[in-house]
Amino acid sequence: MKIKNICCIGAGYVGGPTMSIIAQKNPNIRVNVVDMNADKIAAWNSKNLDNLPVFEPGLSKVIKESRGKNLFFSTEVNKHIDEADMIFISVNTPTQTSGEGKGYAADLKYIEACAKQIAEVSRTDKIIVEKSTVPVRTSEKIKEILSLNNKDVDFQILSNPEFLAEGTAMRDLEIPDRVLIGGDNSPNGQRAIDSLVNIYLSWVPKENILTTNLWSSELSKLTANAFLAQRISSINSLSELCEETGADIEEVSKAIGMDSRIGPSFLKTSVGFGGSCFQKDILNLVYISRSLGLEKVAHYWEQILEINKHQRDRFSKKIIKCINDNNFNKSVIFLGWAFKKDTNDTRESAAIYVANNLLNEGISIHIYDPKVNSSQIKSDLFLLNPNVDTSKVNILSKPNSYFKKNNIIAILTEWDEFRDYAWTQIFKKMSKPAYVFDGRNILEKEKLESIGFNYIGLGR
Ligand code: NAD
Ligand code: UGA
Repeated sequence: MKIKNICCIGAGYVGGPTMSIIAQKNPNIRVNVVDMNADKIAAWNSKNLDNLPVFEPGLSKVIKESRGKNLFFSTEVNKHIDEADMIFISVNTPTQTSGEGKGYAADLKYIEACAKQIAEVSRTDKIIVEKSTVPVRTSEKIKEILSLNNKDVDFQILSNPEFLAEGTAMRDLEIPDRVLIGGDNSPNGQRAIDSLVNIYLSWVPKENILTTNLWSSELSKLTANAFLAQRISSINSLSELCEETGADIEEVSKAIGMDSRIGPSFLKTSVGFGGSCFQKDILNLVYISRSLGLEKVAHYWEQILEINKHQRDRFSKKIIKCINDNNFNKSVIFLGWAFKKDTNDTRESAAIYVANNLLNEGISIHIYDPKVNSSQIKSDLFLLNPNVDTSKVNILSKPNSYFKKNNIIAILTEWDEFRDYAWTQIFKKMSKPAYVFDGRNILEKEKLESIGFNYIGLGR
């Protein structure tokens, strides 16, 4: 079946960038990205491309090229579902906050609402593509909802998980390591798979498109995230061992990464991984394993999250100890709030947890991030701890003037601009003795020590 009209439900960090590339590479397909959040859709339609709801290097260029030609952002969900031959579900799948599975299982209420709405609105056959990250066998649930609520239309379900990382999303979409498509092993299922393969073939080489059964595709997505996070927790756990033994984690990472069986990626030690997915997807994997009685498997994966929390906590404790031991002003400058560089996304950022730990000790925080605004920072803190004392939180549009009054600076995000020599010049203005706690190991220890700083990195 040749696809002419796509609808994507969910105009978030995945739906927006993914559909903009699909539209750019397939000028003959009309792509409608819909969302129930009218403000978000208005932002996607804003004339000033600096106001797009997602900051991603290279995104505005692609939007500029396709928006209004074959790419559209709209709140008319029913209309675009009805018109589409293929519907991507790209809605959020957060960790459940109540009921059975609270704190672990993925909350599928948004997915289920989409399935119900698709069933109610559809009058013609459709291919439904799970783009969101979901527990294994979710497609079965979607199928059930669709067939229960609409008996007149044939729905084929595909799983096509997204592997983009924020900050490099456009590059990841342009040259993906692989595109994974899971579908039914039936003639109709195969035809649906072929339709989606054809869309990707517009720019992805055939050998990079992998087709599997539905369950393998769903489980591979959770597994990929768990493996990536596991590498970070492994290296972070060793950073503590390095601090106790005199080994240097940067040297250890390099030495092991040069083993082609291990490889160099995802071996950068940090104050802890953040982002909307690693924690939620591992919790989900733990929940699935535990529900199946696989306690040892559940426990194994859960340790990744334990180490991540431990890394954030021990970074916070070092700062608190430094303030107490030196009788410093209870005040710290944070450089960075986003969960990684080149994104405005702050979900699960380690900075939120470290800030909360310091605020609980009565320490004031002055925060500077080049892409995150003040209301976002305050709402992140409130979400983690509704009793947070925001009078001790000061958001800086330019941090310069505050350097004078502080002894401690903490790097929470690895923004390139924090590496510039200009920063060490500004650091010079700080109260002395001055300490830099580098939660990303991005600064040069020797350079800072040469201008009189105490440099505290991770694992070195
Ligand atoms: P997001 O929160 O940025 O976007 C989801 C959007 O869906 C929201 O704008 C919300 O308003 C909308 N929505 C929810 N229910 C709706 C409904 N019934 N009708 C219309 N709109 C609805 O989420 P995201 O970061 O784009 O993630 C989406 C999915 O993709 C998640 O399952 C996530 O695990 C997965 N994923 C995310 C990333 C990433 O980097 N963020 C990468 C790969 C996979
Ligand atoms: C991650 C995966 O990399 C994507 O493949 C996946 O699609 C996505 O999750 C998802 O499912 O949401 P993302 O969270 O956007 O992407 O960003 P990453 O580059 O993976 O970084 C995650 C966190 O780990 C960040 O806080 C980052 O700073 C940290 N990190 C990463 C490290 O601490 N060390 C590293 O070596 C790499």
